[in-house]
This record gives sequence, structure tokens and C-alpha cells, in this order.
Amino acid sequence: MAEYFHSNSFVLYNGDCIKVLQGLSENSIDMIFADPPYFLSNGSFTCRSGKRASVKKGDWDIGQGSIKNLEFHVKWLKECKRVLKDNGTIWVSGTYHSIYQCGVALEMNGYHFLNDITWFKPNAAPNLSCRFFTASHETLIWARKDKKCKHAFNYDLMKNGKWKEDSLKKDGTQMRSVWSIGTPKPSEKLFGKHPTQKPLDLLRRIVLASTNKGDTVLDPFTGSSTTGIAAVANGRNFVGIDTEEKYLDLSIKRYKGLVSEYVEDKKADCLHNKSFRQECFLEKSGKYKANKRTK
Ligand SMILES: C[S@@+](CC[C@H](N)C(=O)[O-])C[C@H]1O[C@@H](n2cnc3c(N)ncnc32)[C@H](O)[C@@H]1O
Repeated sequence: MAEYFHSNSFVLYNGDCIKVLQGLSENSIDMIFADPPYFLSNGSFTCRSGKRASVKKGDWDIGQGSIKNLEFHVKWLKECKRVLKDNGTIWVSGTYHSIYQCGVALEMNGYHFLNDITWFKPNAAPNLSCRFFTASHETLIWARKDKKCKHAFNYDLMKNGKWKEDSLKKDGTQMRSVWSIGTPKPSEKLFGKHPTQKPLDLLRRIVLASTNKGDTVLDPFTGSSTTGIAAVANGRNFVGIDTEEKYLDLSIKRYKGLVSEYVEDKKADCLHNKSFRQECFLEKSGKYKANKRTK
């Protein structure tokens, strides 16, 4: 399958992730972050900026019933396992609408669970019905390809790094499995909005915890490519897949914005990702050529 966008460290594909993954080389990816459809677009309402708003995220988020939804999760997780390196790990995010099915599908594919992380959102939207608790967290399952794998985990950085965004993390103590991270900041939506965009602080932590510089990270449901921005900004390479061109176009804008930011701030020099650094230098000299595929 042709790439939708290609630069040295950031590649995007347009299509169903199951098919695209089948075309990628086996054992080629160090870490996968997947934020699959939660299948919660069921005609109900939520609260956005203090107002009642439909939870319809898009046709891609409409469920097909429990059995078909589970089959879908089993299939894409099977293809992810094929492309993942033997020492690789996978992160899957979801709410109660999807995460239990994803857990079963991971188990059915023989993955080995490492952790489930509770991502607590201190600024979650209020509940309008006042008939049950206000949803204010998502769950992230972290699993490795096989129980015997020697997976990457940057323990010292997690323990001793600066995690100012998280009021639960105390300096110099072990990183625990409940993370307090706010929803995306307005500055993360400068190039446009994705209805289920993840915060950069969350993906930054995931990338730094479970990969090393030069590694390749893949996101089969890339959306606005928060994963890709976190990966490249931290010296990793990225492959993203999405069925919707409009989200890939938003991803490209975010990526080009990152390149410009690094050029302007002269931050590229300190990056260990050689290919991204080269791209920043090309941008600076006006020779930057990363482009969308022409149809
Ligand atoms: C929950 S959103 C991901 C949001 C992303 N984490 C971000 O920060 O922007 C899921 C994405 O998966 C895409 N999608 C849904 N079904 C897909 C499929 N079968 N293959 C590839 N992408 C799919 C949707 O278009 C949507 O952008």
C-alpha cells in the first residue's frame, strides 16, 4: 500500500489498519500505541464547554454489536502482533465501553499483560444526568508480545524524571499506575481538532517509558497523530494509519508544525534522531520536501 505521507521519521498510511498492517514487514516495530474506536457513538449526550453535545464522534465509532466489535479487536491485535518485534510492547487505551473487550482480545492473541494504567483526568467534563458518577478516567493496558520477552522499560526515568503535569507523582518515587494528566491543551489543537485527541503529556510518558531513541513506534488508529508527535519529538520514528484522510491531513499539519518549531527554537541540534534532524536542516534551508502522496 502506498504511503499517504512520507518523511524520514514520520510515515502515514490511509486505509483500514488490518489491511495496511498486513502489508508491513513482520518483526519491524518496537512499540505500538493503539487508541481504537470506543464504539460509544450511540446517540447519547455529553457536556462540552458547559453545553449539551452529541457523543457522535464519527461513523467509525458506531458499534456493530458485542460479537462483531470483539472480532474486530481480535483481528487488528493479531496483525499488530505480527509486525511487533519479539521484545516489543503494545499499549491499548479505552473506556469501559471498549477496554474489557480489548483485554479479552489481547489475551486471545497470546499477549502478556504488564500493567493496566488508570489515566485520571482532573478536568473531565461534568455529568449532565446526575444519575451516576462522572466519568473521569480511561484505562490503558500495557502488554508484551510474549511472557518470555525482555521488553523495554525506562524505570529510572519514570522514577526520577520531572512529571510536573501530574499532581499524584512525587519526585524521586516509583512511578505508580494511576496517572493524573489533563485533557489536551488549546495549544495542542492549533492545527485543528480531532474529536478524541489524546494529550501530548500522556503519549510523551508512554513513549519515554517503553521505547529508546531510534526506535519505531506505530499507531494503527492514529487520528491526529498525538503518538507520532510525541515519538518524533523524543527522537523516535513513527508509522501511523487511519481510514480518514481529514485526520491524516491534520497529522501532517501537526508534524510540519513540529518541524518548524524545532527549526525556530534551534532545538534540532540536540535531537538524537538523525533523520528528523536532517529534515529540520532541510526546512531551514528551504529544501524540505516531505509531501503528501499525489493521487
Ligand atoms: C480514538 S481515535 C484516535 C485518536 C488519536 N489517539 C489522537 O490523539 O488523535 C480513533 C481513530 O481511528 C480511526 N479508525 C477507525 N477505524 C479504523 C480502522 N479500521 N483502521 C484505521 N483507522 C481507523 C478513526 O478515523 C479515528 O481517527
